[in-house]
Amino acid sequence: MVSTKAPEDAYTAEPFLPERGGLPALRRAAAECRGCPLHRDATQTVFGAGTANARVMLVGEQPGDQEDRQGKPFVGPAGRLLDRALAEAGIDPADAYVTNAVKHFKFTRAEPRKRRIHKAPTLREMTACGPWLAAELAVVEPELIVLLGASAGKALLGSSFRVGEARGAVLEREIHGRAEKLVATVHPSSVLRAQDDADRKAAYEGLVSDLKVAARALS
Ligand code: URA
Ligand code: SF4
Repeated sequence: MVSTKAPEDAYTAEPFLPERGGLPALRRAAAECRGCPLHRDATQTVFGAGTANARVMLVGEQPGDQEDRQGKPFVGPAGRLLDRALAEAGIDPADAYVTNAVKHFKFTRAEPRKRRIHKAPTLREMTACGPWLAAELAVVEPELIVLLGASAGKALLGSSFRVGEARGAVLEREIHGRAEKLVATVHPSSVLRAQDDADRKAAYEGLVSDLKVAARALS
């Protein structure tokens, strides 16, 4: 019997991965990914940005509204805040490969034609998209991984990951058979969501302080 199951129902990007090639081959293949239903409503795949010899890999959650439109990670408000925090911590953007746990924007619309509101990816979607992140890690082989928020942590270290417990220290974990060094911190969007100026300042300083731990681990 002919299967009528759509590829996205399998919830894995695996069949879309290229057999060989570096970042350009991965990027081209990811553009065609239908490994989960998120590609349907999003504009395009937002693959990682940076060079294969980057020393540090920064992992966010998933593209937001601006990233979905422009096709590049961290180019919206969270990205501007991240750039500022990286500069303050002394991490050279040229040393960084920036990517996300999930490569398509997930959103809801409150009303027709209204602003698209980000929705957190499920563990199932992060697992489906995981092969892309694994492939990026295998090519870039960063000296250090920076986990930006809970989703990045859960995607790479499992669902029991908690930012509050893990942040600000160098962790050593085996991921896909390779010993990795990691530093976890909050997601830059959480700084933007702070209730008032005092909370925002404290959250931003916490982010910078964790990124300084990453910078020291690199030097
Ligand atoms: N938030 C993320 O996690 N990633 C982006 O690329 C942008 C915002
Ligand atoms: Fe593929 Fe990931 Fe997009 Fe799902 S979110 S379609 S797994 S690239």
